[in-house]
Amino acid sequence: MAKATFRAPRGTRDMLPEDLVLIQHLERTARSVAVSSGFAEIRTPFFEETRLFTRSLGETSDVVSKEMFTVPSRAAGGEDGGNSYTFRPEGTASVARAYVNGGYAAKAPLQKWYYLGPMFRYERPQKGRERQFTQFGVEAFGAASPLLDAEVVDLAVRFFEALGFGSELEVRVNTMGDPEDRDRWRERLKDYFRPQLATRCADCQDRFERNVFRLLDCKVPACVEANQGAPALAEVLGPEASAHHEGFLAALRALGREPVIDPSIVRGLDYYTRTVFEVHYPPLGARSALCGGGRYDGLVEEFGGQPTPGVGFAVGFTATELALQELGLPPAQDLADLEAELRPQVYVAAVSEDERGPALALASELRRAGVRPVVLDYRGKSLKAQLKEAGKSGAAFTVVLGADEVSTGTAVLRDMQAGEESSLPQPELAAQILRSASTTS
Ligand code: HAM
Repeated sequence: MAKATFRAPRGTRDMLPEDLVLIQHLERTARSVAVSSGFAEIRTPFFEETRLFTRSLGETSDVVSKEMFTVPSRAAGGEDGGNSYTFRPEGTASVARAYVNGGYAAKAPLQKWYYLGPMFRYERPQKGRERQFTQFGVEAFGAASPLLDAEVVDLAVRFFEALGFGSELEVRVNTMGDPEDRDRWRERLKDYFRPQLATRCADCQDRFERNVFRLLDCKVPACVEANQGAPALAEVLGPEASAHHEGFLAALRALGREPVIDPSIVRGLDYYTRTVFEVHYPPLGARSALCGGGRYDGLVEEFGGQPTPGVGFAVGFTATELALQELGLPPAQDLADLEAELRPQVYVAAVSEDERGPALALASELRRAGVRPVVLDYRGKSLKAQLKEAGKSGAAFTVVLGADEVSTGTAVLRDMQAGEESSLPQPELAAQILRSASTTS
């Protein structure tokens, strides 16, 4: 039978150890920035009942109507009502569900949570767009103040700054108003676009009935042109939402974050109210959004909780990695330092087959004593080959065990940089290695 060959599914990728040097750097930076603003980690399941997403993101959103990874439930009419499950396309809906299930609205409404993990969207894979991608997101519940919106934007920008981004980033902001404002605006937009529908692109024609706001963020040049005279939400914005928006802009400016006011930021998901924003890295072109977010004051109530405001964002790692590459970030030296964290500290070599067992035990002993990483050979290499491999691995020390050492409970410790060797009782090895490592670092 011919051998089968397999590839990672389209739109997914293996994150190999060398890729993870950068990705783990993003994860560490995300955690550190989130914690510095008082956000605690939350983890929700990778899949949810499908209706959680249809209810919150909107039946007509692109994500729900075209991009969901859905599997039928096997329990027809059983414990889950025979529903289907969907691999989460985003994190906000799950986090809001967890907030409601935890009863926080009543007992401790102010909660600030962050998450990091894979999301799934059945999109056409292209540069910066994957079917499985990582998001770092934050969600803050229980405060309606526009100061919180500004703080959340500031957190997103601080994440990018910590990665080395400078003034290349653009914070684009807009307001979607309150639901009544949106209803009025939807009708105005429909009246405006209806006469030009025949000349709009296929996407716009498709979105006209489903989500007329999305015509405003079409990137086709003729459509962009035709959008110039479209009615602005500002024309129908109620006084409270208007004051909120002004407060948000003022707070951003007070933070030194000059926003770009961009009426084409309408976001693709239905739950947004009032503030919406995106962080863009313009050189990435049409897919330049590194981060998107906004307020969703009706979502907790929609899921059966007491009315509770919420605001948050999610950063996509895919676009962030592309932008970092473009900017030559992190600098080569930083990447080398990150890689160095994984470099073995000690290589334990056995002189002959008889010492392989004791070498394994000694390696384990050293790790227990806090020396790490400790590596050794499992493929029967000669002593010469082991020593060559130790040199190539970049290990700071090699520990050599021969028959004499095993019988006397000692080991030969070789400092690879200094080229010095000494014979030590095994119980003293770890302390000696840790002492030398602390004086050289
Ligand atoms: P979103 O704009 O749909 O918002 O996604 C946020 C970010 O995730 C995007 O800016 C993009 O960088 C990245 N992203 C989205 N889809 C893909 C994909 N197929 N491949 C790679 N990256 C992708 C949300 O998900 C909201 N939950 C954000 C939010 C949180 N709003 C309030 N709180």
